[in-house]
Amino acid sequence: MSLFSVPSSFHSSPLVPLPSSPCSHQVLPRQTCRLFTHTFLYSHFPGGRNQLVSLAAGGEVFLTLLRTPVSIFMTHTPNYCCDRLALTLFPALFKFTSRWTQLQLSYPGPLAMADRYFSLYPEDTSPLWTSPCSNKRHREILPAWFNCSQLPQLLILGPQKSGTTALHTFLSLHPQVQTNRQSELHYEEVQFFSDDTLYQRGIQWYMEQFPYPPSPSVPPTNSSLPSSPPPPPTLLFEKSATYFVHPQAPQRAKAVLPQAQLVVILADPSHRAYSWYQHQRAHSDPTAVRFSFSEVIRASPSSPPHLSSLSHHCLTPGHYHQHISHWLEYYDHSQLLLIDGDELVERPAAVMDQLLEFLRLPFHPFQNILQYDSRKGFYCVVESNRRKKCLGKSKGRSYPPMTDEDQQWLSSYYAPHNAQLKELLTRLGRTPPRWLI
Ligand code: A3P
Repeated sequence: MSLFSVPSSFHSSPLVPLPSSPCSHQVLPRQTCRLFTHTFLYSHFPGGRNQLVSLAAGGEVFLTLLRTPVSIFMTHTPNYCCDRLALTLFPALFKFTSRWTQLQLSYPGPLAMADRYFSLYPEDTSPLWTSPCSNKRHREILPAWFNCSQLPQLLILGPQKSGTTALHTFLSLHPQVQTNRQSELHYEEVQFFSDDTLYQRGIQWYMEQFPYPPSPSVPPTNSSLPSSPPPPPTLLFEKSATYFVHPQAPQRAKAVLPQAQLVVILADPSHRAYSWYQHQRAHSDPTAVRFSFSEVIRASPSSPPHLSSLSHHCLTPGHYHQHISHWLEYYDHSQLLLIDGDELVERPAAVMDQLLEFLRLPFHPFQNILQYDSRKGFYCVVESNRRKKCLGKSKGRSYPPMTDEDQQWLSSYYAPHNAQLKELLTRLGRTPPRWLI
């Protein structure tokens, strides 16, 4: 049952998504009128018929109709065909509404209603997927394929070119940790919350990017043998360096993973910007190839659009205060670990110890596993054959050092942003990274 009414205000709550919603479908956020029944018989409704009718006659169902310009009610088929629960509620609702209000109710059909809804609320055009896992009632009715433990508990947010691959690689060495499957689109990154096309695929697609955690071991049937302890739980994580700056990623992530722990790496923003520019050049970005770093960072809004766009993407991820504050609008700061990017380069084992403590994972001997490689100029992983495996060529690139002029220009560019970051860290009681002191 669906109808339009003239709005006074609006209330809606997005809920469990359809598994994968093709883009041609229009998905309205789920509304609730707070009437949930476990019964098909109105005589079994808690409080009986009178209570049911009072919801319509000025109660919560009526209030929902009053405040909601486009109302779509769902009911079980038996409530229409075999019972009088719906047949009691809705006539009472319409009677009360037409007697006591001047609302014009109409039913123009689903497509017209969707069009009207989205013209009133264009911000709802792209859905916000919400995980059913944190709600007991929703968990109880989940389909068998929906395994809540297949969602990650940790997100490494970025930003890009701050050492995210090193952190991802090192953490994956821990026996109680597993990461996502390799993606054909973004290599090791899932980018679900920052890629609008992937986000449209829904939560089921996101879950499929992760392995099933190992199932608990079956206790031996012979009771004379001591039962083996269950395997320790596996922590699932993903790192997508595009999450840090994406305007919708915090809200989207919070809706699916409200309990997630978050990690952000804070490298010196000037060095990060230079590394990012070198990365673009190495990938033959025509603007980065054509313009020097000096020209890119000094570009203004009146520069050619491709140059000012490149400049924007180079510099703004280093506005750390702004992006962290945005994430903290959705997550509590106790869920966020900030890692010093210089420390990750120079003392990765100490950083990994810090990360394990944050995640409450058992100690792992990173001190022995990570060794400095003088040829690479970075720490690499010691494999079982005692050979060192370093990150690929695109991580720890060689390029000429930044000029003093560019370094100075960037220092003054980032000075106000860094001052705000310092203020934020002080407020949160966090130790600032060394490059900020
Ligand atoms: P450069 O290649 O410019 O030196 P990301 O993985 O987020 O793209 O970051 C890449 C950067 O990680 C590298 O930038 C490098 O400075 C840094 N990094 C930190 N630890 C590293 C390691 N052990 N090996 C290689 N690069 C590392």
